[in-house]
Amino acid sequence: MDTQQVVLHMNHGTGDNSYANNSIIQKKVMREAKAIVEESIKRLYTIIPIHCFKVADLGCFSGPNALQLVSNVMDIVDTTTSNLNLKPPVFQFFLNDLYGNDFNSIFKSLPKFLESLEEKKGHKLGPCFINATPGTFYRRLFPNDSLHFLHSSLSLHWLSQPPKELVNKENIHLTSTSPRAMHRAYLEQFQKDFKLFLKLRSQEMVAGGGMVLTLLGRDKTCDIRTALTIIGTTLNEMVLEVHTKVY
Ligand SMILES: C[S@@+](CC[C@H](N)C(=O)[O-])C[C@H]1O[C@@H](n2cnc3c(N)ncnc32)[C@H](O)[C@@H]1O
Repeated sequence: MDTQQVVLHMNHGTGDNSYANNSIIQKKVMREAKAIVEESIKRLYTIIPIHCFKVADLGCFSGPNALQLVSNVMDIVDTTTSNLNLKPPVFQFFLNDLYGNDFNSIFKSLPKFLESLEEKKGHKLGPCFINATPGTFYRRLFPNDSLHFLHSSLSLHWLSQPPKELVNKENIHLTSTSPRAMHRAYLEQFQKDFKLFLKLRSQEMVAGGGMVLTLLGRDKTCDIRTALTIIGTTLNEMVLEVHTKVY
């Protein structure tokens, strides 16, 4: 099944089990990537004149991290333009995720967010327009040559579809005991998807635009043992138990 039709998603809202309250790692990744975002934006300012700074966050979800990027970029641009003695730009942010994403909860949190920005920065800051761009990032999302900066954090490991050759009856994800052919099938699907992603974005970005992508990886040697392995083993045991009872 194409990920566009996927109804599976992070837990919305702000409850105990919500993504918003269980995304410490994602928050940490964004914090650590801030220096790279800064470097990329500073470089941009040395090569392109920017009046309306257009930024997209692909796979933003609806938790607090979606607006964290907006806040980080505005901080960085504020310092960069002040240092260069330039007028701050107008900002336009495009928050993207799949159609089922709870964009409404982002919109609802905007008044408070914009108010706190204004309190922090005063009138020094240019106007900030925040838009939603629903749809899969494995298709075109923006007009040609329209984005200055693109960001995606911990989203690109979501493939456009499972590998066709997939027969994984023992595990719910890739493990060190999965057949080599399955590892190869996932790798090939990722390579195909990533190539397509870069091709589409290259059409949408202005010449010289900046892009910061963070994604999960693993080295060849590590034994893959994650929470998913444990959940997979438990599910398998439950299935076996049902089968034993039926026959
Ligand atoms: C682990 S979350 C990361 C959310 C956020 N970037 C963060 O750092 O907290 C991955 C997000 O990618 C989105 N996603 C997955 N595949 C996508 C696709 N093809 N197009 C757009 N968004 C996608 C998911 O819906 C999910 O919200």
